[in-house]
Amino acid sequence: MKRRDFLITTCAAALAPRIALASAPFDLVAQPVIGQILPEGDPVTEMLGFNGSTPGPVLRARQGDTFDIRFLNQIDEGSAVHWHGLRIDNAMDGVPGMTQDVIETGAEFTYSFRAPDAGTFWYHSHNRSWEQVAKGLYGPLIVEEPTPPDVDHDLIVMIDDWRITEAGALVDGFENRHDQAHQGRLGNFARALVEPNTPVRRGDRVRLRLINVATDRIFPIELEGIDGKIVAFDGMPLPNPQEVSNLLFAPAQRADIIADVTSADQIAFVFPTRDDPYLLGKIPVEGANTTRQPSGIPALPPNEQKQPDLDNAVALTLTMQGGAMSRPASTQTDIWALNGQSGLTDTPLHRFERGQAARIRLVNDTRFPHGIHLHGHHFFEVGTDGSLGAFRDTSLVNAGGTRDIVCVFDNPGNWLLHCHMLGHQAAGMKTWVEVS
Ligand code: C2O
Ligand code: CU
Repeated sequence: MKRRDFLITTCAAALAPRIALASAPFDLVAQPVIGQILPEGDPVTEMLGFNGSTPGPVLRARQGDTFDIRFLNQIDEGSAVHWHGLRIDNAMDGVPGMTQDVIETGAEFTYSFRAPDAGTFWYHSHNRSWEQVAKGLYGPLIVEEPTPPDVDHDLIVMIDDWRITEAGALVDGFENRHDQAHQGRLGNFARALVEPNTPVRRGDRVRLRLINVATDRIFPIELEGIDGKIVAFDGMPLPNPQEVSNLLFAPAQRADIIADVTSADQIAFVFPTRDDPYLLGKIPVEGANTTRQPSGIPALPPNEQKQPDLDNAVALTLTMQGGAMSRPASTQTDIWALNGQSGLTDTPLHRFERGQAARIRLVNDTRFPHGIHLHGHHFFEVGTDGSLGAFRDTSLVNAGGTRDIVCVFDNPGNWLLHCHMLGHQAAGMKTWVEVS
């Protein structure tokens, strides 16, 4: 990415106001929208969104509450909504052809699920997602802790990129085979969208909920103007908050950061590049908070985490194959494959007995990184020393790299397991597991 390919932006999008789920059901309408992706004053963009905007409204509830959402499809092709990272009933998972029928134009479907975990999640179309998400069909889903941490601002930061012309048109070719064989559809313009877009004060304590909503781009992010800790990955609290450094987000990954504002000027979200860092977005700082007493950053209360029985865990391997500059697996029928298989067949990768633990070796035998996402569960990333690390729903595996994950398959149903680079998913990098 060259710096001149990125247009500089100074203002975050005007995002929809926070929606409280007081009276059910809440209507979530997928429809064509006009977005201001380019800087204010530049041309607008015809996109897709929810309830009049992209990103869609913030869906926010308390842990244990029920989301009752009536989804209405007013775009000109079928759709469905997936609640990314939520460990909910299979029938509510929003995967057409697997957990429900596609919701046709003009039709509706009511999703109803209890939010078991507090944390930062998101929702997005799961039908032809490489195109519908690229066009804007996504939004944040926030589940609050019973006692939220003591912060002055709770801010959502969605990081996205778009392939867009200077006239504001999204560039066609969402199924470009060359893109799919490489890193996917990478945008020429990127931003961090902050919600709500209000100034903070120096000395305030903020919670930043970062979400990579891009279809294919991995974002390294540097944060300026704050001092704090990472407290959660993919919605799940870290027992020991970590230093904020080397933040790297595969598509769909999240991080929660609690930090004190140290700048008198701005909090900046920076994309480091070789020549010149690129400013993705910022939060203005105005005035000072002189009353907050200095204190350490506490860990968030944990969500439920079943300890895996490692001695009896099933051992599996998931090998990523294909793509440009690699020899394809002899049996693959599309650009990408997992264990020699492109796309879904009638046979799952594995049939688990409910509650069974598995250790899955993710082997990346390709020239590209992949972010592997499992539906309906979180899993531990196993560290190089064998210890169980972060509890995530999406794991980034570098080109040529290997990572073990450990998962307790305790949520019954049929669950997708796929690369969240959506162009890779479109071109075969997906499979499924059955839990019964
Ligand atoms: Cu974000 Cu198959 O999902
Ligand atoms: Cu991939």
